[in-house]
Parts: sequence; structure tokens; C-alpha cells
Amino acid sequence: MSERGSGFVPGLEGVVAAETRLSHVDGEAGELVVTGFPVEELARRATFEEVLYLLWHDALPNAGELADLREALSQRRPLPGATLDLLRAAASEGAPPMDALRMATGTVSLGTQGTSPDTDAAYEDALAVVARFPTIVAAYKRLLDGEEPVAPDPRLGHAANYLYMLNGEVPGEGSVRALETYLNTVADHGLNASTFAARVIVSTRSDLVSAVVGALGALKGPLHGGAPGPALDVVFEIGEAHRAEAVLCEKLGRGERLMGFGHRVYKVRDPRADVLATAAELLYASDGDEALYELALEVERTAVALLAEYKPGRGLQTNVEFYTALLLHGLGLSTELFTPTFAVGRVAGWTAHCFEQLERGRLIRPQSEYVGERDREWVPMGDR
Ligand code: COA
Repeated sequence: MSERGSGFVPGLEGVVAAETRLSHVDGEAGELVVTGFPVEELARRATFEEVLYLLWHDALPNAGELADLREALSQRRPLPGATLDLLRAAASEGAPPMDALRMATGTVSLGTQGTSPDTDAAYEDALAVVARFPTIVAAYKRLLDGEEPVAPDPRLGHAANYLYMLNGEVPGEGSVRALETYLNTVADHGLNASTFAARVIVSTRSDLVSAVVGALGALKGPLHGGAPGPALDVVFEIGEAHRAEAVLCEKLGRGERLMGFGHRVYKVRDPRADVLATAAELLYASDGDEALYELALEVERTAVALLAEYKPGRGLQTNVEFYTALLLHGLGLSTELFTPTFAVGRVAGWTAHCFEQLERGRLIRPQSEYVGERDREWVPMGDR
């Protein structure tokens, strides 16, 4: 077939590139369905392990199946020496946590076949990366802070272990529920850029660790998973509610984008923003800086109103990142951990999409439209 494509769609906007049973994003209605459940229900009721099982097996686990999954993750949570050595080296260079997570994820291949795409190898890779993400991020944060990593506690679940390994203390129930709500809310979200990247890589029958490393690279960018840190920075910069309008107008006047607002698919409010707003409200009311929460609400109201004024008709609303920032800050996480924590949740979706791609998918190989020159004349070096 000729490489001359017709109907070039910049950014592949509106192009359907996969069939999936994993999640459905309805951008007009502002709805997100994950494995048949509204995201609100999974966020409120499920543990992260239950959502992971649902994504991997398209069914709710019974008690035995859930216990087996928890045990399998628990066994794989501790970091091998090679991973820890790499994290120590990265910390001594002060590498950003997302870079450290990307590099450390590569070491998961040391314990596996690495190149075999068969189902068992892919499942083993998936278990290892999902189990180790929180351990890697928490260990790295402690190393950056000049502290020794804390080993995982086999009695704790996935979300609780993450907070435990970060802080060295068993977290309270409210914090665990808030983190679980967050991880479940971001676990899968249609064919977003990082998920697409993972599917492209695995579609070549490459291994699942490579796919997850590629997905991490896509997630890191500020137009995808890198927005919550800057979103919170703006709230801090504003500082007091009466300054919101002036600060935001100045940014918009300079042509800057307001982080935490706008979405390629949602033209109404991102349903995940509501789920996380409710979780943040609970968290801040029980144990947090309520003034900051109130300020953030005011910043959000002002931003949405100004975006309608400055960019009429674009449907720019609050996205998931705005309340992610508030919730994770309320859990005591520093801004540099926001995107890695997004990855701790989203790796569930990446791995599930890899399984789907391996089972049913075809090599992903779109076309490009050549817009360069033709029939150029070769000029010898001396004449250039
Ligand atoms: N602040 C100000 N203006 C914004 C904006 C924002 N957050 N998001 C989009 N716009 C504007 C664009 O400048 C563009 O204006 P124009 O028509 O005058 O050129 C218009 O709205 C459409 O934007 P476009 O770039 O086509 O939308 P997109 O679908 O490519 O972008 C995002 C989606 C998410 C990349 C974009 O909204 C954005 O950059 N948001 C901020 C970063 C963020 O929060 N990312 C996390 C996403 S979950």
C-alpha cells in the first residue's frame, strides 16, 4: 500500500485505534466507565487490588482469587539489589523521580525472560511492575531525602504499603481510603497517550516491561501526567482567594495554559475531578489544611469562569489533575511525587491494555503523508 495517506488527522483526534473492554470515556456526557462500572463506584468501594483484578480478568475476584493476587503482589514487592543500586546511583545525581522510576522499571527485566511475549511471561512481568512501582517510588523518595528505604510490610495492601514505605509508619484508614480512591480513579482511561504508547510497543510482540517503560515516558510530559505539580504551584502562588482573578488573568494574558484545566476528550467537567474533589473534601475535613481546600475551590471557580471568557466555546473545564494535586498534597506527598503516583495507579491500565493487545491486537503501524520535496539533485560535498 502506498505511504500517501489520505485524511491526515493531527493528534489522531477522534481516530479509533483499538477495541477495548477496559474503559469508556464519554467526553460529551462527562462519564467514565471502567470494566462496566461507573468510576465513582470503583473509586468509593473497591480496593486497588480488586480494580487490578477486574482490569486483568474482566470479572470481580472472589475471596480466594483476591487473596492469591494480594499474595502474588506481596512476594514481588521487595526490590532486588540491582534495582536498589540503580536508585542509589540516580539519587546521588539528583535525578527526577519519574526518570528514576523509568530507569528502575527497566531492571524488572533482569528477573524475567524479557523478550518473550507469551501470556505467562507477560503476566509475570505485569505482576512484577505493578507490585514494584510503589516500592521504587517510595525508596527513591527516601534516598533523595537522605534516608534509607523502608521494606514493604507483607501484612499491608498495595495502597497502605505505598504510604508505609514512604513514611515508615502504618497509615490511618482515612489516608489509605483516600489513596485507594485516587489509584482506582486513574487506573484506566481509554486510549490516552501513555496507554497508546504501551499498546504500540507490545503490538510489535515486544515485552511488557518495554511497553511500561515507554508508557512512563509518555506519561511524564506536562500535557499528560505532568500537570498536577504545576496546578498546585498556581494555588500556592495565588495564596489568597482575592488574588485569584488577577494572577490567572495575567497568565492567560501571557498566553499561558492553566494547568489542571482542559481535556482532549472531556468538553464538560471530568468526572474524575468530582470523585477526587469529594475524596479531598473528606481528607481535608478530617485531617488537613481546610483553608487550602477553600482556596483551591475559589481558584477552580475563577479559572473556569476566566477560561470561558478568554477561550469561549472551547469547553475548558477542570480536569483530573487539579484535584489530584490537592488530594495527594493532603496525603503528605510532595509535588515531585505526583506524576510517579499517577503511574502507580495507571500501570494497572497499561498492563491490562498490553494483555488485550497481545490477545487480539494487530501490529500498530499507521501511515504518514509525505510533504517533503521530490526529485532533488545530489550536490557533491565541494559544491555545497
Ligand atoms: N488553559 C488555557 N487555554 C487552554 C487550556 C488551558 N488549560 N487548554 C486548552 N486551551 C486552549 C488552547 O490554547 C486552544 O486555544 P486556541 O483555540 O485559541 O488555539 C484551545 O483551548 C483548544 O486547545 P487544544 O490545544 O486544541 O486542546 P487539546 O485537546 O490539544 O489539549 C490539553 C488538551 C489537556 C493538552 C490542554 O487542555 C492543556 O494543555 N491543559 C493544561 C495541561 C493539563 O492540565 N493537562 C492534564 C490533562 S488531564
